[in-house]
Amino acid sequence: MSDTIGGAVRLTIFGESHGPAIGAVLEGITPGTPVDETAVAAAMERRRAKGALSTARHEADRVRFVSGVYRGRATGTAIAFFIENTNAKSSDYDKTAALLRPGHADYTALARYEGFADPHGGGHFSGRLTAPLVAAGAICDAMLAGAGITVATRLARCAGIPDAGTFDFEDPAALRGQLAALKTAPFPVLDGAGGRAMAEAIAAAAAEGDSVGGILETVVLGMPAGVGEPFFDSVESVLSHLLFSIPGVKGVEFGDGFALAGMKGSAANDSFRMAGDRVVTATNRNGGINGGITNGMPIVFRTAVKPTPSIYKQQDTVDIAARRNAALAIHGRHDPCIAHRARAVQDALTALALADLMAQRYGPRWTEANAWNSV
Ligand SMILES: Cc1cc2nc3c(=O)[nH]c(=O)nc-3n(C[C@H](O)[C@H](O)[C@H](O)COP(=O)(O)O)c2cc1C
Repeated sequence: MSDTIGGAVRLTIFGESHGPAIGAVLEGITPGTPVDETAVAAAMERRRAKGALSTARHEADRVRFVSGVYRGRATGTAIAFFIENTNAKSSDYDKTAALLRPGHADYTALARYEGFADPHGGGHFSGRLTAPLVAAGAICDAMLAGAGITVATRLARCAGIPDAGTFDFEDPAALRGQLAALKTAPFPVLDGAGGRAMAEAIAAAAAEGDSVGGILETVVLGMPAGVGEPFFDSVESVLSHLLFSIPGVKGVEFGDGFALAGMKGSAANDSFRMAGDRVVTATNRNGGINGGITNGMPIVFRTAVKPTPSIYKQQDTVDIAARRNAALAIHGRHDPCIAHRARAVQDALTALALADLMAQRYGPRWTEANAWNSV
């Protein structure tokens, strides 16, 4: 099992949903990088379950740094932290231990770990393991922000309801304002009315014992042209590897993505033009990436987040102990929708990927003035 990812910036995660704690080790952070625990706590707050739209399992999610941070700055050695699990109720899982949850990882975990995996709360396969991802990503996000690079994600669609707002790509100042607002919004949409309708649909699904999915759309502003690699470490590959690590993500598309397949070249191409002495493109159907390398336009991508697999409606499954067909009615506490919480995870993993790519391109001092080449 690979619990480690990254090149110049590397992340290792550990823990189980109902174990004493979860956590991570983050390596490759430049000595002297500010580690602002308030900013980390704010990112954790965006992922935290709260209200009727999330699981009833509420955790404080306090990040305790045990290594690699001294007087508010990275020392340059491994940053290690843990987050205690304080509100696990393992007995909920004992009653249905042999009944495999459709859509979840119970069966595949059994096949992979031969019955030794901790099953409580999904063990290592739980959405709970995304908490350390958010903490690590917040450190990388602050590095990017200091270098003028902004990452933000919106819930573009939920339960089939679109966010009617649009990003203002024509006006960089307005776009920065939209991204800043999304970063602090408790429910990440551009159009409040659409957001309220989505929230109602999540609550309605929860009332029926069911769940809903959504589409998350991320915009990255301020990335320079020339970052990434042509083939195996293309920006799309590096980002997708991390995005598919978010439990519940089943699709990723960059720019106009699958719609490009139905266009003619004349429509799909983004024509170049000069803006002062900068090369820009008139449209951004390729999502800011050509040949695996950033072209200086905003990076835009979407993920498809499936409905939460643990639902309270009765489902057909098998009793793996008795090896016979069975019916499952789940107890336990679950999110009726993953997507609105996963946006904090998507922001975090995007920041991790981009910090890694920037460090590989420009070296460990990439955040400092004049570190970037320009074309
Ligand atoms: C923030 C977050 C919270 C999640 N909460 C739940 C949950 O409460 N119940 C559940 O069954 N799955 C939840 N999931 C999703 C499962 O962990 C995921 O569907 C499962 O591990 C199977 O992986 P796959 O859907 O990627 O195949 C959550 C995922 C995330 C990112």
